[in-house]
Amino acid sequence: MNNKKQEKIFIKTFGCQMNEYDSLKIMQLLHPEYLPADSENDADIILVNTCSIREKPENKVYSQIGTYKKIKEEKPEVIIGVCGCVAQQEKKKIFSRHPYIDFVIGPQGIYDLPDIIKKLKKGWSNICHAPQKSDFEIPTLLGPHLEEKPLKAFITIMQGCNNFCSYCIVPFVRGREISRPFEDIVKEAKHLLSQGIIDITLIGQNVNSYCGKQDDGSINFSALLRAIYGLEGLKRLRFTTSHPKDLSDDIIDCFRDIPNLCPHLHLPIQSGSDNILKKMNRKYTREHYLSIIKKLRDARPDISLTTDIIVGFPGETEEDFELTIDMLKIVKFEQLFAFKYSKRPFTLASRFEDTLREEVKSDRLNILIAIQQEIGKMKYKELVGKKIEVLVEGKSKAGENELCARTTANQIVNFNGNPELIGNLVEVTIEKAFYHSLRGSLENSELIR
Ligand code: SAH
Ligand code: SF4
Ligand code: F3S
Repeated sequence: MNNKKQEKIFIKTFGCQMNEYDSLKIMQLLHPEYLPADSENDADIILVNTCSIREKPENKVYSQIGTYKKIKEEKPEVIIGVCGCVAQQEKKKIFSRHPYIDFVIGPQGIYDLPDIIKKLKKGWSNICHAPQKSDFEIPTLLGPHLEEKPLKAFITIMQGCNNFCSYCIVPFVRGREISRPFEDIVKEAKHLLSQGIIDITLIGQNVNSYCGKQDDGSINFSALLRAIYGLEGLKRLRFTTSHPKDLSDDIIDCFRDIPNLCPHLHLPIQSGSDNILKKMNRKYTREHYLSIIKKLRDARPDISLTTDIIVGFPGETEEDFELTIDMLKIVKFEQLFAFKYSKRPFTLASRFEDTLREEVKSDRLNILIAIQQEIGKMKYKELVGKKIEVLVEGKSKAGENELCARTTANQIVNFNGNPELIGNLVEVTIEKAFYHSLRGSLENSELIR
């Protein structure tokens, strides 16, 4: 009989979808030697997958790492590592701040984790592995999804970024853009669909500039969408993130032509002032942004739009800020992710004079959030009385036969229905709008797929 104890890994993930994807890949890479642990307390390996996009998330990462010191003191055999963007940024420096950390690996280094674990078990310590190769190819791992009944999944279609927005650390920690070969994406998508996944999001820092190899040349992003939307079993297709300068007419046309491409687009605007957009090196104007919005709404009138905004960028005047407010009021986004400008290492903007007081930045952030709250409420109310398509994701905690579903724009809809509907697309009539969710009813509704 094999008495070997089953070893477990716990990954604490911070940051964007790219990190979520990488965490799942690490789990798959180590499966079945290591299974997912319920918490850091029953894990043999603890890994912190980090984000350094702003100072606040970076600090959160450090305090999280700090909490593992006690575990290491009590159980020195537990292996503790750091991966993700802070790992790539800080590399060996992490060991001087937290000497009990066993290894540090960058985003490209995660695929060598089995080898690193072997070395650590042989007695190596403080291993740092943070390569950044321009010819790196993401391996296509076709492992189990490790969730009981998975419905949704991400596929990373490109890594890195070439845009060098002046405030952003991503090109420095994730390297230049590398698109995955078309065939690998198709292989991964087919594998996910065969596991029962029905909702796939193609991810990358700037998916619109995807340019992948295929047998007879290269393939751009709109062609990729057109090549995969028809794969058997794919009910919902999405992508994120888009850059306004690369959102071409042929991509916009996909919203008109592709029935299962969700009518939702996250299109970060960052600022409504041309002056600030220029300093941010965003390479578009507010006029161009508005022209894209018009084309998108012409192509898909029900499209839901969300955005990111940075307030308090160095040199942002009251007038610049008013222009950003104006954009919010004109476009009427469904949702806004607003951030206070945060100075990041290596970036061009870190050399700009930042004279705005913290208080002014906070005030501006609060003003934007308050305006967006009113717009958001109005948007939710507009849905009352409408029949909309939702994907039934599971039971809700609210009670027996209470189900929880999501619209194409990821809004939550709760309604009463048979749990057999889980995993299906149904039409519900929206009866009530709450602050962050909707109440629907199945009456006179149809099962779509
Ligand atoms: N690739 C995407 C998003 C990248 S990061 C894009 O191009 O839009 C997610 C968001 O974090 C950004 O859209 C931006 O709003 C915010 N962000 C990035 N760097 C920042 C910084 N230094 N300070 C404040 N917010 C920042
Ligand atoms: Fe950062 Fe700009 Fe690249 Fe987005 S497009 S990841 S904001 S550099
Ligand atoms: Fe953060 Fe890195 Fe993603 S900095 S937002 S985890 S690419």
